[in-house]
Amino acid sequence: MTTIDSLSDAAPNARAAAIGELPIPPYRGTSIPEIDYDAHPAYGLMLPKPTLAERLQSLKVFARTFAFVTIRRIVDYENMPLLTKEAGFTGLNAATAWRLISLYARIRTSRMIGSLTGARRPATPANPALLNKIKSDGIVCLNLTADELDQIRTATKPAFDKLDERRVHLPPEKRKFDDNVYWCTRSADPNAFATVDAVFKRYGVAEAASAYLGRPVGVKHVNAQINDQDLAFWRRVFPDTQLADPWGSYLHIDATYGMLKCAIYIHDIGPDGGPFCYIRGSQNAKVGRFEGMVRRTIDFAGFSSRKPEARKKFMALPAFLRKKADFGGDLPDDSPEVPRLREGHFAATSNYGNCILFDGNGIHRGGMVNNGERRCLFIILAEI
Ligand SMILES: [Fe+2]
Repeated sequence: MTTIDSLSDAAPNARAAAIGELPIPPYRGTSIPEIDYDAHPAYGLMLPKPTLAERLQSLKVFARTFAFVTIRRIVDYENMPLLTKEAGFTGLNAATAWRLISLYARIRTSRMIGSLTGARRPATPANPALLNKIKSDGIVCLNLTADELDQIRTATKPAFDKLDERRVHLPPEKRKFDDNVYWCTRSADPNAFATVDAVFKRYGVAEAASAYLGRPVGVKHVNAQINDQDLAFWRRVFPDTQLADPWGSYLHIDATYGMLKCAIYIHDIGPDGGPFCYIRGSQNAKVGRFEGMVRRTIDFAGFSSRKPEARKKFMALPAFLRKKADFGGDLPDDSPEVPRLREGHFAATSNYGNCILFDGNGIHRGGMVNNGERRCLFIILAEI
């Protein structure tokens, strides 16, 4: 481990961050792995040829969802305080639509004026080592002190309590992914935000994220997550077949844009506890603008599901649109890309750190718990 001191003038309180060299080489691939769906045993080799009507229907859904992804991109959805619980969004109607449009116009105008006058600019990184690591590896493991972790545990206990309360009334087989997540809000859980803000300040996390993203950045969301061994979404990848689950199951890139994420482990997490995993350096793999939007469209349209009906709809698309953000489950173990992914695959168990900052544009997965339960906070850093 190398200890790199922060720049004292930029952030007087910034803590010296021990940032270790990851024990694996960077990803040698230059793109997201290509998958030959025509030759895949659960797709082209198994499913009947789509009819013309099925092809047209899939294209229609794709076009509609592509428009939705394009609008999200244009309005810079992830960096706008729109449609959030905090904004009191309850559903789209004429009044909320008008409120959103005027809010959007006001924010866009003030950001434009800020950019022109120089008031809106990325932060100076308090900890250049952190910035350089996130640029090269896409992931950085920090070690918060026992005291800081205690403060975070206390501040987020109400969130985990609410999550426990919700989960206890739901049998494991009925729990959906969202039932395992509690979104804190600044109004209902001010302590959670204040504590995370203060800890991040000490390590220069938000400043590094801001410099990386090239815009002002803050803690936009704090959410508590519980995963346990009953939530086995990455197992039985193709439930209607006898195919063994592939090594790459659940490897994906995020469907979001323009943000960094951070996982804080509330307790120790070993290899069976569902550690966050990342293909080192894969955030630098080339994904064209159109390709990135296609991958996100496929996920938003529900075509990434591996149930037979969804696979049929996916295969009814032209081959050049058959690309998923959630691609890993489709990657056969004998694919030439797999050895490269395995080589760069890093499981961020607790011995590497308890605060894992990462760029979701890189290939990753996590929460695949083999044993027990994983309690983790996820923090989204974006423009607020
Ligand atoms: Fe993700």
